[in-house]
Amino acid sequence: MSKTFKYEHSNEDLPVERGDLWALDGTWPIIWLYCADIISGDYESNLRPYMERRGVSHDCFYSDPPWDTRVLRSFENGLGTDESKSTTNFFPDFMDAFISIAYMDSTPVAIEMGRRNTEETCKLIRSKAGVLPSVIDIVYDKKHPCSLIYSTDKCEDMPDLRGVDDTMTPELFMSSVGTTIVLDPCMGLGTTAVCASTIGAGSIGMELSPRKSSYFLNAMSNLTGRKPILIDRIGSRARSC
Ligand SMILES: C[S@@+](CC[C@H](N)C(=O)[O-])C[C@H]1O[C@@H](n2cnc3c(N)ncnc32)[C@H](O)[C@@H]1O
Repeated sequence: MSKTFKYEHSNEDLPVERGDLWALDGTWPIIWLYCADIISGDYESNLRPYMERRGVSHDCFYSDPPWDTRVLRSFENGLGTDESKSTTNFFPDFMDAFISIAYMDSTPVAIEMGRRNTEETCKLIRSKAGVLPSVIDIVYDKKHPCSLIYSTDKCEDMPDLRGVDDTMTPELFMSSVGTTIVLDPCMGLGTTAVCASTIGAGSIGMELSPRKSSYFLNAMSNLTGRKPILIDRIGSRARSC
């Protein structure tokens, strides 16, 4: 198995730990990043109650989660890339937790997903959330065909996103549904937050990896000129990357 840290040389110097809630200073738009694990219930048990206490809520959900078991494992064991040849298959436990978060708050939802697992993801959304999502073909990272699975009662205002690259789809989706704060529980390096910032919206993210969280905070700081600050520690630090 190759063990390459894809982000080895990035500017990742903030002391982010699991359980940390960081923010970019200043009040609006809010940019929060919670370094935590969606499978451990860190959204329902920790972040969501914290948001409620602070009177903060999101009005759009946009996320690009891991697309299969192999990719999920590579994130879980802390590797940026994992070139092992293990079989790629659907990963119901992860997607179960992910879809619960997506549909918990009745906002418009958009999920990027590899073609291989698009159908299973839609089935799970139907059975768990009782929603019949729409699917269009978009492009991931200017190369890979993938799907955007979305559901919103504002479908009539949706631009035609077919064939659009995923560096642009968050911005177009969020604009079309009038987003003021987006939630992305798999924030990674922050495409969703960058796009939100472009349209003047705020973002609340979760990210499993402290390393990527740090990268994200530095990148958003460079983009906005705002300073990353640790605003709280919520929940456990049990699993580490
Ligand atoms: C496909 S990447 C997101 C890419 C993102 N759009 C970007 O701009 O970098 C999926 C992210 O989900 C994170 N992740 C994986 N499992 C997670 C979990 N259990 N809880 C929270 N984040 C998780 C990974 O570390 C990874 O950064």
